[in-house]
Amino acid sequence: MKTIAVLLAAGQGKRMHSQLPKVLHLLGGKPLIWHAFNALREASQEPPMVVIGHGADAVRQAVEEMGEAQFAVQEQRLGTGHAVQQTEALLKGKSDLVLVVSADMPLLGTGTLLGLIETQKENEGPLTMLTVRSDEARGFGRVVRDKKGQIEAIVEEAQATPEQLTIDELNVGAYCIQSEWLWPALKRIPLSPKGEYYLTDLVGIAVDEGLAVAAINLEDPADAIGVNTRVHLAEAEATLRVRINQRWMLAGVTLIDPHSTYIEPEVVIGQDTTIHPNTALRGKTRVGSECQLGPNTVIADTTIGDRCLVQSSVLEEAMLENDVDVGPFGHLRKGTHLADGVHMGNYGEVKKAYLGPGTKIGHFSYIGDATIGANVNIGAGTITCNYDGEKKHHTTIEDGVFIGSDTMLVAPLTIGEGARTGAGSVVTKDVPPHTVVVGVPARAIRKLKARD
Ligand code: UD1
Ligand code: CA
Repeated sequence: MKTIAVLLAAGQGKRMHSQLPKVLHLLGGKPLIWHAFNALREASQEPPMVVIGHGADAVRQAVEEMGEAQFAVQEQRLGTGHAVQQTEALLKGKSDLVLVVSADMPLLGTGTLLGLIETQKENEGPLTMLTVRSDEARGFGRVVRDKKGQIEAIVEEAQATPEQLTIDELNVGAYCIQSEWLWPALKRIPLSPKGEYYLTDLVGIAVDEGLAVAAINLEDPADAIGVNTRVHLAEAEATLRVRINQRWMLAGVTLIDPHSTYIEPEVVIGQDTTIHPNTALRGKTRVGSECQLGPNTVIADTTIGDRCLVQSSVLEEAMLENDVDVGPFGHLRKGTHLADGVHMGNYGEVKKAYLGPGTKIGHFSYIGDATIGANVNIGAGTITCNYDGEKKHHTTIEDGVFIGSDTMLVAPLTIGEGARTGAGSVVTKDVPPHTVVVGVPARAIRKLKARD
């Protein structure tokens, strides 16, 4: 049996009070819709069908970056039933089952959705829905059952009687529906007093036709956190954080203070790495084993090898090999590559530069647009003057060079192997290998024996 997934993402999300479409607000550093999109993609064979409307272009673009998808545009937002109707032209006859999920339900897992599909396969009737029991209704539709416990209808909060409002079984907003029945049934949904076509009315319609509606109940109510307001967004964020942190602790990562540790969903961390308080690992960051990261550190889209130390620093799109240490107060920017054993002490900034094995920058330096060899010593206060006001220029420093404190390296420039610069020199011309230069501008004063 073939299942196609439909993700409802056309609504504005008025209750967010935002210029940004609700489904593009970030959760765990990813757009809200990313979470449901991934769960759906894994649960069904075809690329998910996404219903877009409010902020359609932006939502479409964001989804296209997540993977293959199909789109249907809901020009006028006339409710969740109307939203599914917009997919009929593209989906009719294409699958046996249609799995419908709201894009604002980020914590539903693939397992739950697969359970919904399996239950519907066994169901003689046309629809299986997901419910949850909770004392906090949070505006969810109430699940009305008859005396025998059979589902009769879903009643939206705005239409519920005082008695129905006390029902603690809630509609989560995920359904698996027989295609053959779905398309004609959508046309039978009545207009609500609010002027919308509610998808939830399908339940009452099936029951009126004498057809069985099945339901599965979510075990963990936290899975059902739906995001309608920014308060809900923060709740979802907290729950997601706890889950991700627990997963890494159970996999062998020490988190000194999980409450102040922020690990985004795509991050990968090796065994026996310790993460200290107030540390955020973002984007596609990958960390090896036995590292010490933090405290007070932000690492984004960076690859880190084994046994590295990073303290009170910011790393962005960088790469650290093994046994590298950075900080406190280091800033590695895009394109930084630190080879094995590089030591970068306090107040260093590196951008678009390679530092070879064993190279050291102990104190306050800026290295940008540079290629630096092995075992180079960069003295305190050294700057690559890479920008002439118009263009960026490259600095090359070969193996074993000793750069004296407060050297200005005016690029483009090559400092030959084993050369030295005196403290405070301003180097404006290439320095041959094994040569000592000093002064402003720097001049050669002597030649070194290769082993000096
Ligand atoms: C909906 C359900 C409610 C359920 C709750 C749980 C209906 C009528 N109500 O209410 O029973 O308890 O979800 O999550 O379905 N959307 C569109 N087009 C529209 C309207 C909405 O695509 O015209 C999308 C939204 O972008 C959103 C989803 O459908 O992702 C749900 O819409 P929302 O307004 O959040 O519905 P709820 O009030 O939460
Ligand atoms: Ca909602």
